[in-house]
Amino acid sequence: MAEARGRWPPVRGPVPGCVPGPGGRHLARGRTRCVIVEIVGGAAKPELHVCITCRIGRDLVPGEDCAGRRLHDAVAARLAAHPAPPVALREVTCFSACQRGCAIAISAPGKWTYLLGGLEAGLAEDLLAYGATYAASASGAVLPSRRPESLRSAVIGRIPSFVPQEPSA
Ligand code: FES
Repeated sequence: MAEARGRWPPVRGPVPGCVPGPGGRHLARGRTRCVIVEIVGGAAKPELHVCITCRIGRDLVPGEDCAGRRLHDAVAARLAAHPAPPVALREVTCFSACQRGCAIAISAPGKWTYLLGGLEAGLAEDLLAYGATYAASASGAVLPSRRPESLRSAVIGRIPSFVPQEPSA
């Protein structure tokens, strides 16, 4: 397996208290910091977080899925059929961006996290294309001109990557 290119070097031995996940590896700094990531093409696979509670201002009829759930399920269906899924899908219940729903975030170790809004289930394919470009970007930055047309104005904001610190004595 290719070495992960992350902020932390791969751990050579077991890390106390951590259990490797399927398809994942441990990345750690020292012996007290550990995060499990999925590896694709030698780098950590980005996580695509989809808010499953976005209702885009609509009241739901009983039994109706909200718009966020429909977006999540549309992305999940495309990922299941994808020959090389570019992202790992995660569910989130509210980004506090409800006025801009449907909302998603994409993140990976050592990269900017981006929050996108104004989405719908019909954009699932475009989100995967964006996810593949994000995965190929060293910083996570994807210029509007390199995004699918539907996502050029969708970015709400971005957040710096988390940099763990050694615990103070
Ligand atoms: S319910 Fe989706 S961002 Fe709040």
